[in-house]
Amino acid sequence: MVDLKGQYQEIKEQVNNGIASVLETSAYINGPEVHAFQAELENYLGVKHVIPCANGTDALQIAMMGLGLKPGDEVITADFTFAATVEVIAVLQLTPVLVDVDLDTFNINIEALERAITSKTKAIVPVHLFGQCANMDAVLEIAKKNNLFVIEDNAQAIGASHKFKDGSVKKAGTMGHVGSTSFFPSKNLGCYGDGGAIFTNDDDLAHTIRGIVNHGMYRRYYHDVVGVNSRLDSIQAVVLRAKLPLLDSYCEKRRSAARKYSKAFLGHENIVVPKMANDSFEIDQNYSCHVFHQYTLRITNGKRDELAAFLQSKDIPHGIYYPVPLHLQEAYKDERYKEKEFLVTNQLVKEVISLPMHTELDDEQINYITEAVIGFVNDK
Ligand SMILES: Cc1ncc(COP(=O)(O)O)c(C=O)c1O
Repeated sequence: MVDLKGQYQEIKEQVNNGIASVLETSAYINGPEVHAFQAELENYLGVKHVIPCANGTDALQIAMMGLGLKPGDEVITADFTFAATVEVIAVLQLTPVLVDVDLDTFNINIEALERAITSKTKAIVPVHLFGQCANMDAVLEIAKKNNLFVIEDNAQAIGASHKFKDGSVKKAGTMGHVGSTSFFPSKNLGCYGDGGAIFTNDDDLAHTIRGIVNHGMYRRYYHDVVGVNSRLDSIQAVVLRAKLPLLDSYCEKRRSAARKYSKAFLGHENIVVPKMANDSFEIDQNYSCHVFHQYTLRITNGKRDELAAFLQSKDIPHGIYYPVPLHLQEAYKDERYKEKEFLVTNQLVKEVISLPMHTELDDEQINYITEAVIGFVNDK
């Protein structure tokens, strides 16, 4: 699904030299490389504070801790996302409230979100799934009207942007009160181990979170709040510093591959290509853009699983993200959830299939993949 070795070749010298220098200086945790990366990412995102941490799951959890959410507070998020989003809500003994998503963008459905708000609701977690921002105009408006926090789960969409109705444009992860991301190796900006970060424009929240990631310490060995141990290490920061200047070109390479996939699939019955908010594959920094963490088709003739088996037989990597809606997962099932509220997610889990998507895909590979998919679906 990804080709991290190919991507490494381009940054090999910088990464190898940077890692060697960390080993020489022994500044393994929170060293100068981490501070430099933090500043560079703040600059790239146009956000006041980036707080690096150990992974994207911690980033979400720490964001919720920083906002002071308490057991019993309800937090609304999408039913169709990676489990980490709901896991941290449950770990903190908050009450997860899962809602349906949109069929075309796979992102949180705004009517379902509004319907789910109660007097106990404290926060909304829009997930920018597969690399495209949720409808942030509507999410922020609803949050403001109901006095709710917005925590953006931006694990899959770093580098994406959202154009608001008033014409302003913001980077994914910087629109709500707080945003989180993951630097897991296969992410659009991935390190060579685990890593994550929290973003906010709120000075007080940033201060609180800086303590939480480091055992609740603001002064050494004085623990003012309950914290965790969640820090980015210097070796990962070296890798991220080498990749950050290339992130926009990585996103463009992904978009270019997506453009080729979609051109090949357009007009073929039973294959629905991913929808983009601006319906354009051109990069325009002044517009909402999709960064294609995943390129996800819907196979609408009921043959998705057969297609997956066929691709397997041809050694074509593919992924089913996600095969089970969160509201039906053993860990998160709840009698509060009614099936009629999840018609779209229940449909998506049967139809979606993601194709290889990375910065090193070439035309030959794309043609091989698209011909295989079209050939199989047309035969059925
Ligand atoms: C939507 C979403 N949220 C959170 C995470 C968690 O990130 P991490 O694996 O770095 O903990 C992921 C990672 O796959 C994700 O896709």
